[in-house]
Formats: sequence, C-alpha cells, structure tokens
Amino acid sequence: MKFELPKLEYSYDALEPHIDAETVEIHYAKHHQIYLNNFQAVVDKYPELADMTAEEILTNLEQINIDDADWIKLKNMGGGFVNHNIYWSNLGPNKEIDENLVQKINTEFGSLEKFKEQFTSLATTLFGSGWVWLVEEPNGKLNIYQLPNQDSPLTLGHKPILALDVWEHAYYIKYQNKRADYINAWWNTVTLI
Ligand SMILES: [Fe+2]
Repeated sequence: MKFELPKLEYSYDALEPHIDAETVEIHYAKHHQIYLNNFQAVVDKYPELADMTAEEILTNLEQINIDDADWIKLKNMGGGFVNHNIYWSNLGPNKEIDENLVQKINTEFGSLEKFKEQFTSLATTLFGSGWVWLVEEPNGKLNIYQLPNQDSPLTLGHKPILALDVWEHAYYIKYQNKRADYINAWWNTVTLI
C-alpha cells in the first residue's frame, strides 16, 4: 500500500495564536512526513504487509513476524504516522462539537472540566516524549492514559479518539520549556469537545 500524508483541512496559520504557523508547518511537512517515509520504507520490504492499512498493521503488530530491527521501525514509524493523522484531525480553527462524546465524557468523568483536568495532568506530568490519549476500550468505556514514544492505542486494542502530542517538536518554537502553556493553548484548537 502507498500511504499518503492526509491533507490538512486548514492552513498552517489557522491555529494561531494557540499553535503557531511555523510549528504546524514543520510538524506536519517535516516530522509527520518523515514518519510516513520511514514507515513506507519498511512496509515496502515485506510483501505480507502490502495489503494492510497502517491501522491494521498497528492493531496486529504483535503478530507480525519480521526482522527485529524492522519490527521496531514499523512500530515507531507506523505509530508516528497514524498518531499524527489523528492529532491533525482533532484540531482546527472552528469547533465541531461531538455532542454524543461530550455526554459520554460527562457521564464517565463527572464533567467536561474534570475530564480536562485529568487529561491535562497526564500531559503535564508525562516524562520524556510521548502522547496522552482519550480512547474507547472494547467494552465501550472511555479511558485516558499516557503512552511513551509513538506507541499506538490500536496495539492495545483501543479506539483512539483524542490525541495530544507532547513531544518537544510539537511546541518548542513558541513555548520552549513551558509545556503547560502549550497544553492549555492546545485545548483551544480541539474541535470535537
Ligand atoms: Fe509530533
């Protein structure tokens, strides 16, 4: 399969002033593109992967039996590709509230504010590089957690809903060491809640 970078549904400067245009451009056109290129290079080596979607590869990662170094690349680069697809799709200049999701969050976390507090706390305390996720588990329940590096909730059998990238490349140009400021600003660009 030939994978493609999903087209951004907004311009590089559309998330200003919360996420600056330079960061969006480098993050999308350089970082995201490189994950895709490296993922494609591994997939192209193995005919048994040729008909699988990126999501299928991550979901079935533990069953894929290839060279160890290539397997690590598949996990890291495939995760980097798909995680960023989700990241960009969650963001935009205009709200597109998912009322069903908001209702579910209210029921399971007590309120939207309590949910945001827990999610933000996980993001500010994540050590090193990684992501914070809102996922739906197979039993239908929502959950939030940290994952390191470019690990994917798909590999855990979970459906990703909301993804916050807290790698430094996601915020360092504008926010430097002030990760908490980036996280607070990021909430303003999330469209679905
Ligand atoms: Fe990133």
